[in-house]
Amino acid sequence: MADMLVLGIESSCDETGLALYDTGRGLLAHAVHSQVDLHEAYGGVVPELASRDHIRRIVPLLRKILAEAGTGLETVDAIAYTAGPGLAGALLVGAGFAESLALALKVPALPVHHLEGHLLSPLLSADPPRFPFVALLVSGGHTQLMRVTGVGQYALLGETLDDAAGEAFDKTAKLLGLGYPGGPQLARLAETGQAGRFSLPRPMLHSGDLNFSFSGLKTAVLMQARKRTPGDSGKADLCAEFQAAIVEVLSAKALAALKATGLKQLVVAGGVGANQALRAALDTGTRAAGARVFYPELELCTDNGAMIAFAGAQRLTFGAAAHQAGSFGVRPRWALGEA
Ligand code: KG4
Ligand code: ZN
Repeated sequence: MADMLVLGIESSCDETGLALYDTGRGLLAHAVHSQVDLHEAYGGVVPELASRDHIRRIVPLLRKILAEAGTGLETVDAIAYTAGPGLAGALLVGAGFAESLALALKVPALPVHHLEGHLLSPLLSADPPRFPFVALLVSGGHTQLMRVTGVGQYALLGETLDDAAGEAFDKTAKLLGLGYPGGPQLARLAETGQAGRFSLPRPMLHSGDLNFSFSGLKTAVLMQARKRTPGDSGKADLCAEFQAAIVEVLSAKALAALKATGLKQLVVAGGVGANQALRAALDTGTRAAGARVFYPELELCTDNGAMIAFAGAQRLTFGAAAHQAGSFGVRPRWALGEA
């Protein structure tokens, strides 16, 4: 098959991401606009504001990546976009733009599952893993362990029964008054604190399966905070203990998944994969198990267009899921198994 240039568009939540991926030359350009400043005052993502901002950013970002790649729209062979899961209005902006541009350019449009984008993103790095591998997907909306045999071949091994790991970070940060986006801020404060001074549970650590539960942790944090009314240094210690609890459970279950499948490669994807404490624990744990852990490039851990362009390109290469542009829908709720 001749090389193909794929434009990727991500707009499922609070980042507008666009990228150009060439099946022969690799990632040519990518750009992300984060809406953090826009939503900060509200302490969380406001869906309507998110949709409107995607509309504002999408064309300037497209111009930017075309200039960066030194090419024009006429060289684009297909357009991949996030069709779900995510915020309905935000998804519709990317989908509507992608589908109409594809119609105008007479190229196929490729609806992509957001989690598939995250899942395949480590394959964009200089030293990529090879199929099959175990993937730990840890984002704001999902926490899943999967056996990945190839593009489109994902078997669920375990998942969270309630809150996602990123959601737990964000909600706990909010109740500790750390603002938005909470995850990275909580992680930063945790680095200055000491785990073990407060005592938090390790939910489902010994459940004997590969599932998770994180919703009880934020309540436990709240109880501890009330009991001891931590000052500033106490807050850092509480953050450190919270991070240690999440990291311990995530890494124990990821290692258990390697053991259960007999695989020796672990891929970590999604925003929480940027967490340095998690990375340290997984580095040590996999080394001790004679296995290896792979991460996407740091800038591709959180939402971006590159992973969507790449997932679309993989789907093209394997002959699936392209359709004639013009008729489309988005799927705000969408299980990866149905992709
Ligand atoms: O994958 P992502 O960008 O968006 C979703 O698809 O959800 O992940 C965002 C999540 C948020 O919950 C954010 O708080 C969390 O990833 N996150 C972190 C860190 N960086 C981002 N959580 C813990 N430590 C970090 N360093
Ligand atoms: Zn994401």
